[in-house]
Amino acid sequence: MQEEQEDTMTTRANPRTETAPMAVIERLVELACLAPSVHNTQPWRWEYDGRAITLRADPDRRLVTSDPRGRNLTISCGAALHHLRFAAQALGWEPVVEHLPPGDETVLARVFVARTAHHPPLPADIELMRARCTDRRRFTAWPVPEDQLAALCRIATAWTVDAVAVTDNADRFRLELLANQALTALEIDPERLEEQESWIDRPGDEGIPSDLLPDHPDPLHPRGRFRLGVLEDTRLVIHSGDRVIALGAGSDDVGSWLRVGEALSALWLEATRAGMSVVPMTQPIEVESTRREIGRTLLAGAFEPLLLVRVGWQVIGRRALPRTARRPLDEVLSR
Ligand SMILES: Cc1cc2nc3c(=O)[nH]c(=O)nc-3n(C[C@H](O)[C@H](O)[C@H](O)COP(=O)(O)O)c2cc1C
Repeated sequence: MQEEQEDTMTTRANPRTETAPMAVIERLVELACLAPSVHNTQPWRWEYDGRAITLRADPDRRLVTSDPRGRNLTISCGAALHHLRFAAQALGWEPVVEHLPPGDETVLARVFVARTAHHPPLPADIELMRARCTDRRRFTAWPVPEDQLAALCRIATAWTVDAVAVTDNADRFRLELLANQALTALEIDPERLEEQESWIDRPGDEGIPSDLLPDHPDPLHPRGRFRLGVLEDTRLVIHSGDRVIALGAGSDDVGSWLRVGEALSALWLEATRAGMSVVPMTQPIEVESTRREIGRTLLAGAFEPLLLVRVGWQVIGRRALPRTARRPLDEVLSR
């Protein structure tokens, strides 16, 4: 953090510094909002004061039953923060991020967008942000090579989080059992179910449309967290080659959640670049008993599990998915 603050001051003190104009700030926030968020709640608020972009969580968008402490809310904001930084770099700027700056605990981050030299834009990176999506259709049987899994874990750990791929068969089996236990906890809790259901086919620019929920249960994993939708999925019985990566940190607090969100975004964008598909699986983390069991058994207490993601391959030439909606800029950015 201290290093980042020093960086910020150097950037501001340099007489050749060009500060990003409002049109760039607006474009960056729009791109940041393409980030994934739990149930597409888009729980972020941005503010630009002519100097820095401030990111806060929107507490009214927290899932009060399934996310009482705001873990998924903050992870979603962390993903948007990484998207903002990634977009700024792709457009040739030199973003400087201050995480959890002192003085106002509602502020998750401040981002200064300026540049001291010309950098060519990276249109492929902007395209990547538009291409990334949550595809819940069945993965193919193609295995994710160990070196690719390790590379994705390294991308995540660069954001000072812990990341481990669950590759051992006994661990994978145990994780499936825990995921099933977590689903049972959801199914017998009418408040949780109702909350989740309320984010499906929601009017307005938020939530998950049933066009994005598969229309057929996977015979090998018949229980998903969402009800069936109308997205056509294969009827083939596939022993899917996907793998799970567990992301976490030494502590279960706001700072760790924010970094896990950044790591999630970085990992997801690079997986998309490599042609892989990523689907978060947060149900076993939302249920405290299964979360603790994952930490104790699968991770041997090495770190606090904060997010699980499935990574795998989708069929080549599959039908492109419609994009989930995003709220208009004026609703999320004050300036
Ligand atoms: C913290 C977090 C938790 C999520 N949990 C799940 C999940 O358990 N199951 C799932 O299918 N998608 C999950 N998602 C994916 C979101 O539903 C998805 O990002 C959102 O609907 C927006 O769609 P998009 O990713 O296609 O832009 C999660 C995303 C985030 C950031």
